[in-house]
Amino acid sequence: MGAVGIIGTGAYLPEKVLTNADLEKMVDTNDKWIVSRTGIRERRIASEKQASSDLAVEAGKQALESAGITAEELDLIIVATVTPDMPFPATACLVQDRLGASKAATFDLSAACTGFLYGLATGSQFIQTGLYRHVLVIGVDCLSRITDYTDRNTCVLFGDGAGAAVLGPVAEGEGFLSFELGGDGSGGDLLKQSGGGSRHPASKESVEQRLHFISMNGREVFKFAVRVLGSSAEEALRKAGMTKEDVDFLIPHQANDRIIETAIHRLGLSRDKVVVNLDRYGNMSSASIPVALNEAYRSGRIKKGETLVLVGFGGGMTWGASVLKWTMDPVS
Ligand code: ACO
Repeated sequence: MGAVGIIGTGAYLPEKVLTNADLEKMVDTNDKWIVSRTGIRERRIASEKQASSDLAVEAGKQALESAGITAEELDLIIVATVTPDMPFPATACLVQDRLGASKAATFDLSAACTGFLYGLATGSQFIQTGLYRHVLVIGVDCLSRITDYTDRNTCVLFGDGAGAAVLGPVAEGEGFLSFELGGDGSGGDLLKQSGGGSRHPASKESVEQRLHFISMNGREVFKFAVRVLGSSAEEALRKAGMTKEDVDFLIPHQANDRIIETAIHRLGLSRDKVVVNLDRYGNMSSASIPVALNEAYRSGRIKKGETLVLVGFGGGMTWGASVLKWTMDPVS
């Protein structure tokens, strides 16, 4: 079994910015409440012409360029999303066509905000077993499309974006050192989009009942997130034979600064070891971790040989973490 790591990263953020001041004009909220309860100041919103595949293609192109490989060299494309362009074909198929990755197998993966971590764990297995050499994993979501902008409990939280990573073989002892994935379906009602599937297909009633929007029990999700962020990061470290002293950077899912702060406290890490960008983008679901990773790498903050912990949680409920030794040279 060979070592597998991230050999290229990319991201795409839509141009349109939705600020807290904009939201003040839409619902009964205010900048002070949003910043103090979440840490979010603004988020990006896809244009009317953009769907998830459009964002994913841009992030994918950048990741391929950074890996120094062509689309033709891809063996598999995994798109982690809960906002595909449509139920089928898979968004990964649309991305494959637009990238010209004609030899790649394709599928979408649904694990909400934990999707990118599930995608990394899944994609890396194909390389480890020797079946494939290069896998493109994209985390993309256009949560604005399923956000109820009359519901102040949820509409202040979410944004749109895409992040991508090319996985490939790396030197022994580098790349992914462990994965920890989990799920608890008993919490499925805490965070969901009920409408549009086989239970509640789109109908006049489903629209009137607002079933196509995200519904969330914020307090319960908060409690769950605080619990699993710390425990899954600890478990991933244990599996890698490491302790918190070995961590150079923690890249958590960007849902709420207070959730991140609690996880940092539990893990005993200092704030300067944690990558946070939710003030600028809000919660972009499966795109949050790869966008933060891409920014930290391209800004020169994370360096070759350093140990990173990626950790996330999401609807399902799901959670996941990975420990990896960064293998990429600085961006020139
Ligand atoms: N502006 C002003 N007031 C608000 C707003 C708002 N935008 N939203 C809620 N409030 C009010 C509530 O109505 C409530 O008022 P009340 O006491 O009169 O009823 C009060 O503020 C406090 O509400 P709480 O829900 O207790 O606020 P809390 O401190 O828990 O923060 C929040 C709410 C930010 C949603 C928090 O619970 C949270 O972040 N939860 C986790 C959410 C999350 O991470 N979701 C994404 C998961 S990932 C995925 O898969 C998509």
